[in-house]
Amino acid sequence: MYFTKEQFQTYQEQGFLLLNQYLSPDEVEIMKGELPALFAEDSPGKVLEKDKNTVRAIHASHTRNEVFERLSRHPRLVEPVMRLLGSEVYIYQFKINAKAAFSGDVWQWHQDYIFWRKEDGLPTARIINVMVLLDDMNEFNGPFFLIPGSHKEGMIDTSEKKLTNVSKNPTDSEDGSSWKANFEANLKYSLNPETVADLVSNYGVTSIKAPAGSVLFFDSNVAHASPCNISPFTRSIAIITYNSVENIPFPIENPRPEFLVSRDYRPVEPLAEDSLLLKSLV
Ligand code: SIN
Ligand code: MN
Repeated sequence: MYFTKEQFQTYQEQGFLLLNQYLSPDEVEIMKGELPALFAEDSPGKVLEKDKNTVRAIHASHTRNEVFERLSRHPRLVEPVMRLLGSEVYIYQFKINAKAAFSGDVWQWHQDYIFWRKEDGLPTARIINVMVLLDDMNEFNGPFFLIPGSHKEGMIDTSEKKLTNVSKNPTDSEDGSSWKANFEANLKYSLNPETVADLVSNYGVTSIKAPAGSVLFFDSNVAHASPCNISPFTRSIAIITYNSVENIPFPIENPRPEFLVSRDYRPVEPLAEDSLLLKSLV
């Protein structure tokens, strides 16, 4: 058992749980060693920052990289998630957000579930994000902001609002691929400032400061954001989203690409060893 009873309660109450240095420095080193080659690849789910050069995010690395495939099956991640969701799980989405030094851009305030509900037909919020810090996260490098307890509001439907903070049609991307609009700095279902102000006045706000190897479990309805990174410190993270096998999306027209919403519903089999360290990798 990786979580104590109190930690399960904290997760339910706050909508998130941070575990400091949950993975070892050796595991972090192995994962970080994979990033330059993965960022250099011309993979279909690659998103660049506005400078059209710096990598902002890559997707589905667990399908083509052994280290991240093992990360996605790490028992320290998968077992608590199965307990929290009360079922087996499959990988719904896997992404690495680079938030590069001096150029990593903002992630506007949002909840995740609304994207998956509206874009993918996900029936319920029985789905959990697990963020693995691949660098230290501090006050300078675009840390992750959360509104503790905001998941209790459920999905806040922003689709009716006028998107005042979006300068163009939010479904259009520079290169015409509509899925990218959900990953660039202008988000399609961002929360408006009034809503964020109300939530913060009701629940407060916090930010994550933790060393590399720390892991954040967070609810898909907890409001979150991150500012841009103008520091010299890169802030890379992996986010693995596990969905309950009892929460398969409804069939929809024009589903988003497989690297954003996996249709491989096979349950994750946790690794037998409690470590990413493979003999061939060390
Ligand atoms: C996200 O909301 O999925 C990512 C936020 C971040 O990288 O800070
Ligand atoms: Mn998000």
